[in-house]
Amino acid sequence: MSLQPTILVTGGAGYIGSHTVLALKQKGYHVIVFDNLSNGHREVVESVLNVPLIVGDIRNKSLLEQTFQLYDISAVVHFAADAYVGESVTNPAKYYSNNVMGTLTLLETMVAANVKNIVFSSTCATYGIPNSLPILETHPQNPINPYGSSKLMVERILQDFEQAYDLKSVIFRYFNAAGADPNGQLGEDHFPEPHLIPLVLFTALGLRDYISIYGTDYPTPDGTCIRDYIHVTDLAQAHLLGLEYLLGEKTSNIFNLGNGQGFSVREIIETAKLVTGRKILVKESERRQGDPAILVGSNEKAQKVLGWTVKYSQLSEIINHAWQWHKIRHQPMVMSQVKGNQTVSIKSLC
Ligand SMILES: NC(=O)c1ccc[n+]([C@@H]2O[C@H](COP(=O)([O-])OP(=O)(O)OC[C@H]3O[C@@H](n4cnc5c(N)ncnc54)[C@H](O)[C@@H]3O)[C@@H](O)[C@H]2O)c1
Repeated sequence: MSLQPTILVTGGAGYIGSHTVLALKQKGYHVIVFDNLSNGHREVVESVLNVPLIVGDIRNKSLLEQTFQLYDISAVVHFAADAYVGESVTNPAKYYSNNVMGTLTLLETMVAANVKNIVFSSTCATYGIPNSLPILETHPQNPINPYGSSKLMVERILQDFEQAYDLKSVIFRYFNAAGADPNGQLGEDHFPEPHLIPLVLFTALGLRDYISIYGTDYPTPDGTCIRDYIHVTDLAQAHLLGLEYLLGEKTSNIFNLGNGQGFSVREIIETAKLVTGRKILVKESERRQGDPAILVGSNEKAQKVLGWTVKYSQLSEIINHAWQWHKIRHQPMVMSQVKGNQTVSIKSLC
């Protein structure tokens, strides 16, 4: 009989979740994925990860209760959420229902089942417009969209649940997840795809006519917005460390997970041209409201407390891993199969 604990991963069929399941499996953990497949992929869990998949919604309390009865779960790693900033502005009800009510249902079920450890995916979007850089965990949190607000509400709920029910949490505030499994087993597969790097690579593949840059007059060296891109495999490793910290130290904590350095939109496009060897047509447009010029996080606390190191910090590596994944996945597609030219939402990058 194995001594390794069983971990429930909500949203484990999604982008960051699947990479984390792979890392947990490689470390010998038993993993159960709980995902409603609204944005995740059954075949990834069943064929690539080979772990049990419970297809269900975190708002389905009785299914969660059955899951906690069926398995001897030591901790939950909670990725399940809606995560499109723009959509959260036009449809906040969806975000508060899924991200807040869904998480509340999960937490209530955990407490009832006496499962008192959770790793939670929060976001740099909880900080809002930064008043100092790099952003530290102690920076004030003033989200400027419902997505960020929904994640901040959960952070507050977690604090209250610790006080009342002794539920311990590691909260990770990610900056922009990017890249793909270096061995090519997993990658990013969203529809619609809101993130800059895949959209730039779709342009390189001929699946889009051009990539839009929104704003070229920001107070940055090349005039375009700067963001902090963190490799998804580095994020996955941080979750392993966070989980071990939680199970070992039995203490709650909050960490930024970022690269610690920023890259501009132009740098992304120029690096993608070099990595792919393809042409990438650019269209420059006006700034949009609500896009801060620079968002870069400090990752020193995670390094110091968790012993986390960023292995894939180079932009060329991040883009190359994403390119290897998208090249294989999308090469046979033709233009007509992609719905129009989706625009890049910098606001959706947290
Ligand atoms: N991708 C990023 O750059 C980024 C940045 C900051 C924070 N985050 C957070 O990280 C987490 C994972 O992000 P991702 O990019 O992997 O997203 P994703 O959409 O690829 O993964 C989310 C997964 O959760 C599932 N899901 C959604 N709602 C559910 C529900 N009610 N019940 C069960 N399953 C549900 C989806 O089917 C999907 O598989 C999210 O919580 C997101 O808010 C992501």
